[in-house]
Amino acid sequence: MKDRSKTKWGLIACAFLVSTGLCASTVVAQTAPATTQYDASSRVFRIDAADSTYVLGINENGQLQTLYWGKRLSANDPFPAAKATSGGGFDLSTSNTPQEFVSWGGGLTVEPDLKITFPDGNRDVVLKYVSHHIDGNTLSVIMKDISREVYVTLEYQPDAETGILRRSATIENRTDAPFTIEQVAAGTWNLPHGTDYRLRYLTGGWAAEWNLQEQSIHPGKTILESRRGTTGAQNNPWFAIDHNVSTDQDEGSVWFGALGWSGSWQIAIEQDMKQQVRVTGGPNAFDFGYLLKKGEKFTTPYFYGGYSAHGIGGASRLLHRFEIDSLLPHHPTPKLRPVLYNSWEATGFDVNEPGQMALAEKAANLGVERFVMDDGWFGGRKNDHAGLGDWYVNPQKFPHGLKPLIDKVHSLNMDFGLWVEPEMVNPDSDLYRKHPDWVLNFPGRPRTEGRNQLVLNLARPDVRAYVYGFLDKLLKENDISFLKWDYNRNWSEPGWPAVPQDQEKNVYVDFTRNFYSILAELRQNHPNVEIESCSGGGSRVDLGVMQYTDEVWPSDNTDAYDRLQIQNGFSYPYTPGVMMAWVTESPTWVNNRTLSLEYRFLSSMQGSLGIGANLNKWTPEELTKATQMVAQYKSIRETVQRGELYRLITPENNSEQSVTETVSRDGKQAVTFAFLHSSTEYSSFPRIFLRGLDENAMYSAHAFAGKLAGDTPAQASGAYWMHHGLDLDLRGDFQAAAFTLTRSN
Ligand code: GLA
Repeated sequence: MKDRSKTKWGLIACAFLVSTGLCASTVVAQTAPATTQYDASSRVFRIDAADSTYVLGINENGQLQTLYWGKRLSANDPFPAAKATSGGGFDLSTSNTPQEFVSWGGGLTVEPDLKITFPDGNRDVVLKYVSHHIDGNTLSVIMKDISREVYVTLEYQPDAETGILRRSATIENRTDAPFTIEQVAAGTWNLPHGTDYRLRYLTGGWAAEWNLQEQSIHPGKTILESRRGTTGAQNNPWFAIDHNVSTDQDEGSVWFGALGWSGSWQIAIEQDMKQQVRVTGGPNAFDFGYLLKKGEKFTTPYFYGGYSAHGIGGASRLLHRFEIDSLLPHHPTPKLRPVLYNSWEATGFDVNEPGQMALAEKAANLGVERFVMDDGWFGGRKNDHAGLGDWYVNPQKFPHGLKPLIDKVHSLNMDFGLWVEPEMVNPDSDLYRKHPDWVLNFPGRPRTEGRNQLVLNLARPDVRAYVYGFLDKLLKENDISFLKWDYNRNWSEPGWPAVPQDQEKNVYVDFTRNFYSILAELRQNHPNVEIESCSGGGSRVDLGVMQYTDEVWPSDNTDAYDRLQIQNGFSYPYTPGVMMAWVTESPTWVNNRTLSLEYRFLSSMQGSLGIGANLNKWTPEELTKATQMVAQYKSIRETVQRGELYRLITPENNSEQSVTETVSRDGKQAVTFAFLHSSTEYSSFPRIFLRGLDENAMYSAHAFAGKLAGDTPAQASGAYWMHHGLDLDLRGDFQAAAFTLTRSN
């Protein structure tokens, strides 16, 4: 995360944004630099960045207390000293006071950020402020237990462009014995007092990820979580809270956050007895344990949080911008996603040299830039019963190795990508026969299989070395530009019998840390290789893995209509710039739905375009159409992948329509996609009112799919497109249209 507050970037960005009319309404405060200050007289810290202000203070009990989180305030606004909230016999002050980081002890009854068991049986920890330092704009506050040598450093790092605050906690054992961390979080976000809050979050399952949920926040607790060992699709580690009254996507205050962690995780949203709403996030406390030895430190995953004054749409745009400019590999200029072809839905496990070469030729003719061979190329892999773990090229399918295919792909001006699933093993594999002890297991208990496979214990140093070793070798021996890194089951029996019993639960943390460290090391040693995070679809998408991967696979569900909902949900926390989206067969295997090729393309063009169909089956007309759509995509891809997304009509609640608009960062192009599920009676498609344009600039409209209504002017002002709006000639079932607005002055 970069602090570019002192660069010219903010000024340049805002100069452009003022000219587009955006700056005045959305990001005017970006011109003001980010600052982090401490007022020693009131013992108050104040962090200002972009359009938000965050204030915390040390109260009379030495607790660190949230004083404000919201829209950026005037530099001179007063902040009196923090004062602990009073308590009674049942609800003690410790629980009532909105603390930044609370340990379990001193009678705490709300969700703790830290719970420790010491070897002598003591489980009470009470933290008080010790000292702090400010380095640039990064604030570190050091707390210590009232009697034991347990130190906690809370770190706050603001992002100058978006105001997103990155928080973490480091626990340090300076006692003379090990202790067990039973629960730990990066910190707690405390919202302003209120009783009308609404929580948004995401739920899902395989081939049905990214469903947006909304519920009023009532007294009690909602836990979003994964107990699966990795991120999971049941919930995604993201939340957004606003006032129940807001109805417009782009209006109102929104507080949001996301965890950067790809292991089991939890985010607890709690409204306490005093009607205060607090959000605590970190590794999942269920079955958790981390033995911290004398002298060791434990740093939590990052918990990012932000504030938008421009509704949930504004919150998404801040996250998208943050991901691209400050989080993804190669930020602030990650490469645009190439148009990709993937063999999975075309050939399944039945890959071989001539078959893949034939597909590569067809893909290249369409304008595809990257050819990816999916599952089936290695070991004894004929189906999903065997082969995982044996990462040598299957000699029957590729008698001359991968080189002839890779050379062919290169000769067609595409780069080459390969599917791997490094953390898994089939019991029917040489690796498992040799190392049955390498999987997660409890001795003497069954090893539950999922998709006929077991999970390698990546926390083990020998497993980590094996996984890194075969990937490094594969990349050294073959000219591979891209890995699709898959992960196709959840954990079961998460035992680690090779280590002493009191360290076994370290597996929850060490597995994920080793996963990240392998990705980091591969990137360092193979800097031109890009990586996609896939987990049977979108089960491992989070701000942790996105630090190491260039794109993600949101779902195995490639039905272009289902995808509208999936992509819509995905876009709340994550940028379409990393969202791979393939055009596949019709009717689709998912639900036997038939959709036109144009509809399928338009749906996929809302993200990073890929093609996953069997091109041998496409007619000459279809191949021609596809070639046109690929070329069209290349002319809008920078806007779609980097621009500012407006969800004009969401497909939520079974809406008959769905419309998105993306405005390029330079303001010169806006791209709109519109989809109709089905017309009823003689009704028209709702008028589309664009957003994010410059009222005074002129834009010309061009439909590249479907038709604008006959009376649409060829050119008009931003004010016209935003306030008068335009109509589409869209009727029937599963219809789609797309148009650009191009700025002419
Ligand atoms: C997972 C992925 C698919 C495909 C298969 C291969 O399900 O999500 O895209 O790669 O594995 O087995």
